[in-house]
Amino acid sequence: MKRIKVFAPASIANLGCGFDIMGMALDEVGDVLEMTLDEDGDGISIDNETDVPLPSDIEENVITPVLRKFFALTSKSGRVEVRVLKKIFPGSGIGSSAASSAAAAFGINELFGAPLGEEDVVVCAMEGENLASGGYHADNAAPAVMGGITLIRGYDPLDVIKLPVPGNLYCPVIHPHLTVSTKQARSILPKEIPMHTAVTQWGNVGGLVAGLCTGNIELVGRSMRDAVAEPFRKQFIPGFDELRAKLLGAGALAMNISGSGPSVFALAGRGDIAQRVGAIMERHFAQQGILSETYVVKVSNKGARLIA
Ligand code: HSE
Repeated sequence: MKRIKVFAPASIANLGCGFDIMGMALDEVGDVLEMTLDEDGDGISIDNETDVPLPSDIEENVITPVLRKFFALTSKSGRVEVRVLKKIFPGSGIGSSAASSAAAAFGINELFGAPLGEEDVVVCAMEGENLASGGYHADNAAPAVMGGITLIRGYDPLDVIKLPVPGNLYCPVIHPHLTVSTKQARSILPKEIPMHTAVTQWGNVGGLVAGLCTGNIELVGRSMRDAVAEPFRKQFIPGFDELRAKLLGAGALAMNISGSGPSVFALAGRGDIAQRVGAIMERHFAQQGILSETYVVKVSNKGARLIA
């Protein structure tokens, strides 16, 4: 019997302009799993030891398809018991399903002595994302596994590029208690976009990558604009434009929807500005009677990892 404890971070998908292709890992906020392997046994069990409600049927838990994908890719077998010890609230928009999926994918790979490379660990984690949202996207799963800021250059085959993270990048992120499912937030998007929208968007993606590679955080900020999804999704977040104006006025480099929402994140080049921006976010939702949680964290280069 082998037993490990694994952490995988929360993450922010899209980063404004990088719809379905970019994401970044957050420091300290994330999921913790304890995983036990009996190589002579068979089957999967999952116990939820958190206050967060999770499906009791293991077929509906994102961890199950992740473990099965690992077994399919490696032809290994065994009995895996998973205890969920810490869980980001599902539907928060900070990569809750990806954190569990990444922790499970990383953990099972570690239990068997790491037969899969990092990119294949992401492929396993994407099975959880597919169960949660009906699509194989890696914009949360890749940073949750690898850490830092990741770019999915292509999905067929998966080609993940890890981008440099400027040292002074802080991220205030707020989870207002509003219900927006990823499925719903995707279903309202048009299937085609006009050429001028595409040109705007790929200009910003190029600017964002260039800004990260050169450590130019002003360029990062002004490139984090989304012409594709935000115009349709911001209706779910009360006072979205007004909040952005307040945050930019307080020194934030950018503000966007985190993934498909309802969380909203900003970027700041200094810790004190990030704290101030976090407080303004909190006040914005409180004034409208909306409960929320706020995290002010550094962008982290660390992804899924063993903690015991
Ligand atoms: N890229 C996805 C979306 C993120 O925006 O729908 C979902 O977490």
